[in-house]
Amino acid sequence: MNLSYEVISAEEIENCRDLCNELMAFQKSRAYIRPELFDSMNFETRMVPSIHSALHNYIVVVKDGRQIVGYVYSNISPKEAYSNEFATFFDLSSVLRPNVGCLSQFYIKEEYRKYGVGTKLLNMSMTWLKQFDEIEDYFVFVSNGNNEALEFYQRKGFSVSHDILDGFITVLRRNK
Ligand SMILES: CC(C)(COP(=O)(O)OP(=O)(O)OC[C@H]1O[C@@H](n2cnc3c(N)ncnc32)[C@H](O)[C@@H]1OP(=O)(O)O)[C@@H](O)C(=O)NCCC(=O)NCCS
Repeated sequence: MNLSYEVISAEEIENCRDLCNELMAFQKSRAYIRPELFDSMNFETRMVPSIHSALHNYIVVVKDGRQIVGYVYSNISPKEAYSNEFATFFDLSSVLRPNVGCLSQFYIKEEYRKYGVGTKLLNMSMTWLKQFDEIEDYFVFVSNGNNEALEFYQRKGFSVSHDILDGFITVLRRNK
C-alpha cells in the first residue's frame, strides 16, 4: 500500500462517481428497513445536488498509487437544506445558528478498512469543519444496518440523536 491523501475541488468530483455509487450499493446491502429507498440514490442524485446546494464543500480522496480507494465528503449548508420532501432530518429549532456542518459521505474500499484510513479522513474533515467559527452543530446520517459505521462515529465523539423515516436513518450529532 502506498497511500496518499488529496483534497480535491468541487469541479473534480467526477473522480468520486464510482465510489459514491459503491457507497449507495453498500448501504442498500446492509439495510433491512426500506432498502428500496436506495434505488434512486446515486452519484447524480446525491453528490452532485449536495455539492451545488452547499455553501462550502470539502472532499478528500485516498489514493493507493494512482487508484482512488476511498473518499470523504463534508459540507457546510443552511439548516433548511435538511428539511425537504424526502425528510426532516432534525428539528431545525434545535439548531441556533443558520448553518450546520455535515459529514455527508464516507467510503473506503473494503480491503483498505481497519488500517486507520477512516480515522485520518474523519480527523481531516473535523479540522476543516471546525474552522468555521459560526458553526456549532455537526451531523452524520447513518442508514439502518450499518452498525460498524454507527459505532465508528460514536467512538469519534458523535452521539445518537434520533431515528427518522421509520428507522431508515439514524441521526448522530456533535456540538462544537
Ligand atoms: C466506516 C469507515 C469509513 C471506517 O473507516 P476505516 O478506515 O475502517 O476506519 P479506521 O481503520 O480508522 O477505524 C476502524 C477501526 O479499525 C480498527 N483499526 C484501525 N487501525 C487499525 C490497525 N492499524 N490495526 C488494527 N485495527 C485497526 C480500530 O478498531 C478502529 O476503531 P477506532 O475507531 O476505535 O479507532 C469504513 O469502514 C467504510 O468505508 N465503511 C463502508 C462505508 C460506510 O459505512 N460508510 C459510512 C456511511 S455513514
